[in-house]
Amino acid sequence: MPPRRSLWAIYKGIEPRHRVLLGMGFMGFSMLGIWVSDRLEKRFPAPADSRVTHRAPANAARPHATTTTQNYYPEPGRQAAMAGRGPQMPMMQPQVIVLKEGTDTSQGMPQLLSNISACIAVCDTIRTTLGPRGMDKLIVDSQKRVTISNDGATIMKLLDVVQPAARTLVDIARAQDAEVGDGTTSVVLLAGELLKEVREYIEEGVGAQVIIKGLRKAADLAIDHIRELAVSVDRSDAAEFRALLEKCAATSMNSKLIGSQKEFFTKIVVDAVMRLDQEELNEDMIGIKKIPGGAMQDSLLVDGVAFKKSFSYAGFEQQPKAFDSPTIVCLNVELELKAEKDNAEVRVDKVSEYQAVVDAEWKIIFDKLDSIVAAGANVVLSRLPIGDLATQYFADRNIFCAGRVSKDDLDRVCEATGCRVQSTTTGLTAAHLGTCERFEERQVGGQRFNIFRGCPRAKTCTIILRGGAEQFIDEVERSLHDSIMVVRRAVKNQAVVAGGGSIEMELSRYLREAARQIEGKQQLIISAAARALEVIPRQLCENAGFDTTDFITQLRARHAQDPKRFRWHGVDIDEEAVADMFAKFVWEPAVVKINAISSAVEAACLVLSVDETVTSQRAQDPMANAQPAPGRGRGMPMMG
Ligand SMILES: Nc1ncnc2c1ncn2[C@@H]1O[C@H](COP(=O)(O)OP(=O)(O)OP(=O)(O)O)[C@@H](O)[C@H]1O
Ligand SMILES: [Mg+2]
Repeated sequence: MPPRRSLWAIYKGIEPRHRVLLGMGFMGFSMLGIWVSDRLEKRFPAPADSRVTHRAPANAARPHATTTTQNYYPEPGRQAAMAGRGPQMPMMQPQVIVLKEGTDTSQGMPQLLSNISACIAVCDTIRTTLGPRGMDKLIVDSQKRVTISNDGATIMKLLDVVQPAARTLVDIARAQDAEVGDGTTSVVLLAGELLKEVREYIEEGVGAQVIIKGLRKAADLAIDHIRELAVSVDRSDAAEFRALLEKCAATSMNSKLIGSQKEFFTKIVVDAVMRLDQEELNEDMIGIKKIPGGAMQDSLLVDGVAFKKSFSYAGFEQQPKAFDSPTIVCLNVELELKAEKDNAEVRVDKVSEYQAVVDAEWKIIFDKLDSIVAAGANVVLSRLPIGDLATQYFADRNIFCAGRVSKDDLDRVCEATGCRVQSTTTGLTAAHLGTCERFEERQVGGQRFNIFRGCPRAKTCTIILRGGAEQFIDEVERSLHDSIMVVRRAVKNQAVVAGGGSIEMELSRYLREAARQIEGKQQLIISAAARALEVIPRQLCENAGFDTTDFITQLRARHAQDPKRFRWHGVDIDEEAVADMFAKFVWEPAVVKINAISSAVEAACLVLSVDETVTSQRAQDPMANAQPAPGRGRGMPMMG
């Protein structure tokens, strides 16, 4: 028997050039094999069900699939029949496209409960800010701007809530701020608490519409009861009326940074509102100017219009800085020498022609200035710049001028002094000019201010705020805004209720009793609303560090025992006791509470009425909502 040789030994025994030939032979055979198998397959195709597989779409198994493109596949029996008919059925089924690809929808009770949870989470963020012992929030926005605030509306705005249902709470805080100024934290807390209380009924399967009806009924009952309870003060007794206004202003300041200086600021706020036209009570007529530096007590109220001196040109020092009964002109005209060669190409052949062009330019500006002087003006204000030529011209004629005055300030000067802003200087008549008792430019802190006092036309005033840090003055401004709005509302309605959670406890008792007379599920919902109202006194206690259970049970017992005698009993933060808050002068305009209850109930109903959220892909993409970057033709400030 010949010895057995391994394949490798045989291969090694072959000459290299024969190895190449051998390799090429193998390749040729392989290609021939592939070709033959392809031909055979074409000739004798395999049965269809062994080749075509139908895969169900990924979302077919999920009843609440998030995609909105619906594919209609045949049911299994029919699918099998079609498969047996042959392999050529490519399953061309019609697609019904309801919403854009990528749109996200979620629905049903889980959706409702998740919306409620989002609202409660937002409420939890601001609940610690309620009341005189409430804390402030420090918020850093995307541009790294720092805001320290206790104001519910400001915090809600800066929180930048993205959950769509929870944004409703931001909206009601804003609405409350615009409508009555104060009570923005209360309105959000109340809405959140209403949702928290009705949540269990949703989970038990009570219809959202039944709950909405119950809440609306509770709101109507509560608002009617506030109207019955509200105490009105007779306006004819000026001293008493002023005391009422001061108390309302003080209550709104209690919970703010300026709470420690409330005597000083209540006087300023009430004076400011009393100076307004009592029919219109337009809060825009109260200007608030902030000057960092100094102490809070250096703030002052100017009876008239005051604004910061704008940039001025050489010659300004020679102008007079004070006038009695001046004639005032307000313009929207640029008083600067315009060299036309900057705007247009002028071709001249002779020097005299060039001189004529220059002379014409000078004539234009001098004509304007002459007509202002001829009108008898002592004070010239313009929204547009007043250049050095005009400044010197006015200085030579003992006229004061200020250019680049902001629109708000100019509007207030016009309203107050009776001027009308003119876009031309020709044909100025007495009807276009205004006057006041005294005009002066004065130093306030590190700034120079133009002050118009004793304005005959509209009643207007300006509060000049002083204080340390800029954030601090900003918060003082927001707090004053709340108080101004509260006093304004009190002047209009003259009806007040006591604070400190007393009105909420009384309403809670009233609703509980009213619910007993009502049959069916509405009884449960109205009782839930009654419990929700207790959130205000409870939170006031919690923020002050009191024993909440003790206080709430005491308050409940008192209000139930003798609703008339203990009507205004609430949480006395200063004494850490249950006390008559009316006697403690913690008063609030009734309209603040009415508005808070109706807005909170409306917001809760809105959240409850939503059973499906459809979010487009664009809304989910944060870049989709980004503003276009400023570029050519964009980002130009609005002129005019
Ligand atoms: N001295 C006080 N004792 C007890 N409660 C007080 C006192 N002063 C004010 N309150 C109560 O504090 C609550 C107001 O708190 P706060 O001003 O922080 O919130 P808000 O008015 O709801 O919202 P915001 O002022 O942020 O718009 C009211 O219920 C008011 O009755
Ligand atoms: Mg307040």
